[in-house]
Amino acid sequence: MPRGRQTREKTVPATSVIGLQWGDEAKGKVVDLLTEHHEIVVRYQGGNNAGHTVKFDGNTYKLSLLPTGILHEHVKSVIGPGVVVNPNALLKELDGMAESGQDGFSRLFVSDRAHVICPWHLLEEAALEAARGSEAIGTTMRGIGTCYRDKVGRSHAIRVGDLVDRDVFAARVKEIVPFKQKILNALNPDGEQMNADQIIEEYGQCAERIRPMVKDTTAWLLDAVDADQKILFEGAQGCLLDVDHGTFPFVTSSNSSGCGIHSGSGIPGRYINNMIGVAKAYTTRVGGGPFPTELDNEVGQKIRDAGNEYGTVTGRPRRCGWLDTVATRYSARISGVDSITIALLDVLSGFDELFICEAYDINGTITRDLPSRCEDLAAAKPVLRRIAGWSEDITTARTFEDLPAAAQEYVRTAGELIGRKVSIVSVGPDREQTIHI
Ligand code: GDP
Ligand code: IMO
Ligand code: MG
Repeated sequence: MPRGRQTREKTVPATSVIGLQWGDEAKGKVVDLLTEHHEIVVRYQGGNNAGHTVKFDGNTYKLSLLPTGILHEHVKSVIGPGVVVNPNALLKELDGMAESGQDGFSRLFVSDRAHVICPWHLLEEAALEAARGSEAIGTTMRGIGTCYRDKVGRSHAIRVGDLVDRDVFAARVKEIVPFKQKILNALNPDGEQMNADQIIEEYGQCAERIRPMVKDTTAWLLDAVDADQKILFEGAQGCLLDVDHGTFPFVTSSNSSGCGIHSGSGIPGRYINNMIGVAKAYTTRVGGGPFPTELDNEVGQKIRDAGNEYGTVTGRPRRCGWLDTVATRYSARISGVDSITIALLDVLSGFDELFICEAYDINGTITRDLPSRCEDLAAAKPVLRRIAGWSEDITTARTFEDLPAAAQEYVRTAGELIGRKVSIVSVGPDREQTIHI
């Protein structure tokens, strides 16, 4: 390689969109808004546990494993090495697109390094969650954690590159199924018995359809960086669900903060010069785990109703609470966020007063740092700042000045407490319902 190429300064403006809470911050909407300025959209972690919603021209699109960029014809979408892929789920989503006349197959590349979610992952997860009883994580039951566990464990993992090699895949399944069945039988003697031949047949059929999309996406993306193509990285879940930096053990099994971009895509994080953190104007959480600002009362229900806070993937009611700037500030800092989007601000219209958590009181100690232990987070009482509410419908606001003074004050306070400038305010699910600051 010529010397100049090795030392060349990268000017390509790669962008990333990261959730700053426990997921469902409206990342899908923000990614969709930014996609028109990009040529490639990359998912680099998670799997079909994600549910990203996009609305435009009167249509609603729900994406789970597919990058949101797939909705744009001019864009190439990439499922990177750090993603876990359920082949059936992938094809179901692509077929769903085809039914509405969109050819997702020709717009997608899937990394041969990505790991494959197999039937035993779903069965193991069901048994493990049941065994945790009241301490259950409340996972999406998509086999995400059990697939990542096998990847890190290395013994029983299957990658997409193996899936599309018929002989290798059949041999791996024949080796793994008896081993996994022993564990599953021990956990649940009355449970389902797997049939290796049937799995080979079913997954083999999927593999035939997936093979044309499989690629060494790492090399392809690095070439795209060299060619100054514009790349957008789409985070799934949120920083507080990150396996290393989130509210462990009530987290997902991947690096869902900005830290996961390099490991999950192969593209060094220093090529990203625009890191956008997305936060709801309040907080939601699905599944178990501590949630200091939770409103388990009629105020929380009012937010749930106004925000239609029911899971995109599982339909579960989301837990709701006030905006927590201890948690979101932490997320913005660990992910190196440049600016933030405050989404679903319209949901807070019609409250006499609103509250933002600015610190925690943990057994008498006031702190602005997120504790590492869940026990301490569970003990944290939010120190709340009161902000006046507003009654106006703000869904038609298109500039910051269109917002009522109290809503402007709310956004300013949120930005100050999180410690980042607010660049976008979202006042409705539609593309148009967006304020750029
Ligand atoms: P993601 O997982 O971060 O992409 O978020 P989800 O799609 O799971 O959840 C966000 C929900 O809020 C979706 O139903 C969006 O259509 C909706 N939404 C996005 N932005 C806004 C907004 O500003 N206001 C309202 N009311 N809804 C929004
Ligand atoms: P998006 O991308 C909200 C949560 C689950 C559970 C925990 C672990 O739409 O923001 P998992 O199945 O990943 O092992 O579950 O993580 N969770 C999400 N919560 N939004 C998501 O994705 C989530 N993906 C996983 O509810 O608490
Ligand atoms: Mg979601």
